[in-house]
Parts: sequence; C-alpha cells; structure tokens
Amino acid sequence: MLKSHHCGALRSDHAGEHVALAGWVHRRRDHGNLIFIDLRDRFGITQLVFNPDHSATAHQIASQLRNEYVIRALGTVRTRPEGMRNPDMATGDVEVMIDQLEILNESREPVFHISRETEVDEALRLRYRYLDLRRPRMQRNMILRHRVTRFMREYLSERDFVEIETPILIKSTPEGARDYVVPSRLHPGRFYALPQSPQQLKQLLMVSGFERYFQIARCFRDEDQRADRQPEFTQLDVEMSFVDHEDVLQLLEGLLTELVPAVSDKRVQQSPFPRLTHTEAMARYGSDKPDVRFEMLLIDLTDLLAESGFRVFQQVLQAGGQVKAIRAPGCAGYSRRQIDELTELAREHGAKGLATIQMRDEGPHSPIARFLSEAEMTAILERTGAEPGDLLLIVADKAPVVAQVLGQLRLEMGRRLNLLDDDVLAFAWITDFPLLEWNAEEERFEAVHHPFTAPFDEDLDLLESAPGRARAKAYDIVANGYEIGGGSIRIHRRDVQSRLFRTIGMTDEEAHAQFGHLLEAFEFGAPPHGGIAAGLARLVMLLAGEPNIREVMAFPKTQSAVDLMTNAPSGISARQLDDLHIQIKD
Ligand code: AMO
Ligand code: AMP
Repeated sequence: MLKSHHCGALRSDHAGEHVALAGWVHRRRDHGNLIFIDLRDRFGITQLVFNPDHSATAHQIASQLRNEYVIRALGTVRTRPEGMRNPDMATGDVEVMIDQLEILNESREPVFHISRETEVDEALRLRYRYLDLRRPRMQRNMILRHRVTRFMREYLSERDFVEIETPILIKSTPEGARDYVVPSRLHPGRFYALPQSPQQLKQLLMVSGFERYFQIARCFRDEDQRADRQPEFTQLDVEMSFVDHEDVLQLLEGLLTELVPAVSDKRVQQSPFPRLTHTEAMARYGSDKPDVRFEMLLIDLTDLLAESGFRVFQQVLQAGGQVKAIRAPGCAGYSRRQIDELTELAREHGAKGLATIQMRDEGPHSPIARFLSEAEMTAILERTGAEPGDLLLIVADKAPVVAQVLGQLRLEMGRRLNLLDDDVLAFAWITDFPLLEWNAEEERFEAVHHPFTAPFDEDLDLLESAPGRARAKAYDIVANGYEIGGGSIRIHRRDVQSRLFRTIGMTDEEAHAQFGHLLEAFEFGAPPHGGIAAGLARLVMLLAGEPNIREVMAFPKTQSAVDLMTNAPSGISARQLDDLHIQIKD
C-alpha cells in the first residue's frame, strides 16, 4: 500500500507516529510560509502542513499543488494547537507535518467543485460522472446502496435462499415494456432480447427444485423514462416454492423492516405494514401507489348529490360518474390565485373543473353554493367533517379521472402542509389487483402484472366468462408514494397457463412459439410457487432521501436514455453492421 492510514483514521492518539497518506488535494490554503492541504480519500479528510523550515523540498512541491492532484505524503502526526482544532472533522484534532511529498498525478481544473456541495447542472454531472462520483453526496449514496445489497444478500442467505445468476441474452420476457434486442451474428435475422426481468427463468428454477431463489438482477426495459425509471435497472428478485402469498409478504416485510434501521436513520412508519386492496387504495387515495405518510383521504359524496340540481353534478352522475372531495385543514384562507393554481393542477390531470368550499369564520364560501340546496351543503359538510379553517376540494367526473385528480391534489396539499415526513418510510401492501385489463387499442385483455400471475382460485372460471372481473393473486409494495416492488403467486399448471394465454388473445400456436419452454416445463412436476421483485434504486433513493433514482446509480442515463459520458447509443461501423447482417434504413 502507498498509505499506512486512510484519510479518516488519524486521531490525537496517533500523535508522534510517522505515517504515509495518499489521496486527492481537496483544498489548499497558503498562509505565507505555511501551506495547508486538506487531503481527501474515500474515508475522510486529513490536514497536511508544509513548513519550509521542516522540509524545504516538500514545501516547494506543495506550492505547485492544485485541486484534485493525486499525491502521497509522508510525515509525523501532531495534535493541532489549542484553538485550531476542528470539531466538525473526524480528524480535526490532528494534522500531519510533512517531510516528503510526491505528486502521483496532476489534474485538470475540475469542471465543477468537488469540495463544495454546490448545485451543478445534471448534464454536466453526467458527462463527468467520474468526477461527480467523487463528491460526498454520491459517495454516500453508492456506499448506502452497497450496504443495502449486502444486507439483502445476508438476510436471504441466512434463510436458505440461493443466489443464482440468469442470462442477459435470452428470449423476450414480457413485463409490459418494449424489449431491448441484440442481433445475432451467428444466426442472421435472429435476435436475443435483454430480459425485462428474470421472471420466466426464476419460475423455471422453481421447476428445478431450488425452492428459494434470489438475485440482484439487472433488467432492461425500453419505455418512457421518468424520475423513477431507467432503461436498465436492478431488482432484488425473489422466488419461492410451496408458499402462498402470505409467505412472500412476510419475507419481504421482515427484510424491509430490519433493513431500514440497519442502513439508514429513517424509520418505518408502521409495522406490520398496512394492507389495502387495490379497490380501497383507488377509492381512498386515488392511487394504486398511495403515499400513506398522511391521511387526507378521498371522501365520496356521490350518494349525497344524487338529486342535485347542479348541472355539472347531474351530468356526471347520469354518465355513471362520481363526486368526491378532500379536506385540507387550515387552507380556508386561500387566495383567489391559490385556488386558481389548484384548479390549473386539476385541469392538467384531466379534471373539467374544481369546486371549492372555504370554511370561513362567517360560514362556508363556495362558488357552487348557489347551485346546491341547503340540505346538500349541510350533508357535504357533515360527510367531510369540515371545520372552520378547512378547504374542501371537490371533483366530479368518471371514477378514474376523479382518482387521478384528487390523488394528485392530495399529494400537492400534503406537500403544502408539510405532511410528507422525509424521515419516515411508509410501506404499504396493495393486494387483490384485477388480473386483466382491457386494451382498447388492441381490442384484447392483457395482464395487469404479467401473464404468469395466478387468478384467485374462485375466479378461475371467469377467465372465459368475465375476464375483466377475475382477481389476481398479486401484490405490490409501495413506500411514500412509490411502487417499490411487485409480485404474485404464479400459475404452475400447464392447463391454467394455456387458458390464460388464450384469454389474452393468443392462439395455442402463438403461445407455444413464445412460451413453449415454460408450458413444457410445467409438464414435469412444477411446484406451486410465487415471488416478488423490488426495485433496488427506488428503495435506495428513499433511504438516501434523494429525489430521483439517477442519484443512486453510478452511471445512469438521461431522461432520453442517453449515456452522456460514453455517448451511447452510438453508431457502429459498417463492418460490424455487415457481420450482423443489418442494414440501416434512412
Ligand atoms: P415489476 O415489473 O413490477 O415486476 O417490477 C418490480 C419493481 O421493479 C422496479 N422497476 C423499475 N425501477 C427502475 N426503472 C424501471 N424502468 C423499473 N421498472 C420496474 C419497480 C417495480 O416495482 N417479474 C416481476 C416481479 C415478480 O412478479 O416477481 C416484475 O418485474 O420498483
Ligand atoms: P361552471 O358552471 O362551469 O362555471 O361551473 C361552476 C363551478 O363548478 C365552478 O366553480 C367550477 O370550477 C366547478 N366545476 C365545473 N366542473 C366541475 C367538475 N367536473 N368537478 C367539480 N367542479 C366542477
């Protein structure tokens, strides 16, 4: 080693020791004769002192140092003089008087500050990601991520899970996104697909008898990017045999409950995690990934307004729609402009309008008051529990629009009222998803999760008679409004799997061509099985308190799926194209 200690190690007990340190020049201060260098490595910062009376050569070299030069310095640890100690630094009681200095490498002027946590344009950070990763925030995030995966590996290994790698070059596994494909040189016109998840392979491992599998698995999905989506991402992927959904839920819940305090200073809001059916989540929170850190539930007013003379409500209710409200405490004094902002937000999410009731001291104030009977107003106030100072936000529309709009307004009001406690992870299970949903464009049913998810036993016959009503043995885990993971009990019988494929509009030939391997495997004693996969980056993002998953990925891509550092995707040579039997269209 070029160093005897790392830069976070030295304390006053080390005074008098001769040490060797190596790292980056974090900061340089020239105090006339004395030069101070803050030397940084992954573990911390140590102050080096250069005094020409102590070593003229070292002092001379030190005068050439610039930020981010890589150096090695030898010297003697001493306690700092009284008054010069820095209690904010782990090594703040000591400094090292240097007698020998070597420049291991020079550095160009860094394109942004490494030593200060300034805001830097993200494109620049991604272009120079290796410099960005030197900064404390990114170092913390990467190390946190490592601790999370290490915890997961140990937790699962202790419980008899086996980590098994599955291939990246496979045949397409549908998870609802487009595949990334890789052309085959050896087989002209044929392609591998990069896995959207190891779903089929982990099921095949259950057929193989491993019983308990996990993998920190890389997944690839060509889909629209968002703050919590990347084209390639990592899952904690788990599959278990001879279990029902309760076993899978208990396993992941146990893991997460122990993980959070072990790796972060966040706390789990509620354990056991609350459980909501999909229907309940949509009805109460207007979302299938509710942020359950705060209440402000959606309140149904539909039945109260059945006879309403208000044209807007009449029309909506006649068309089978709903009227629902949320109650924001302390917002009765909102100005015209603030109400307009909320109305604009409601419109952005699809509402045709937003009705408000401001609970002022002199009584309820509302632009729709004159359209409502006194009895209707009273009933609304009673149902919502409105109190002086409250603001009621009311939306009338089709159920999905009401959910979307009030779900988003709820989050906005939660934000405005400071109800989103960042020190808390509020996990919740969402269960009883519908198995299938109608795809109007393709005029067929498609799987809500994926087509390997088992229906409720009692709903099996709905596959033919009323597919839209079948419920799935599927579950999602959410935290703070993000979908952290999802899974299901799988179909393990060949006949049921074939029926499901038929229900989603596949002929037996198509099913065989795409999933023949799985159907065939199910003929060889497939055990009942189920599992789950959790998005690693989303979880680490919440643990780190970061606003998007790029902050917890070493080398993420941009929103348009570009790697700004290497410039991927890029063209390839005519020779490579030729090898792959590919011709590019204009
Ligand atoms: P699912 O598609 O729900 O399930 O994915 C599981 C979890 O992976 C995370 N995730 C993502 N993270 C970052 N970027 C993305 N583009 C992205 N897409 C998904 C989410 C999500 O909850 N094979 C099934 C699991 C199973 O049934 O066992 C699957 O992949 O946190
Ligand atoms: P209008 O008659 O269209 O001017 O609407 C009267 C009031 O009803 C206004 O305060 C609108 O914001 C509100 N409003 C209109 N459409 C809706 C709707 N779909 N849901 C809730 N309020 C609405």
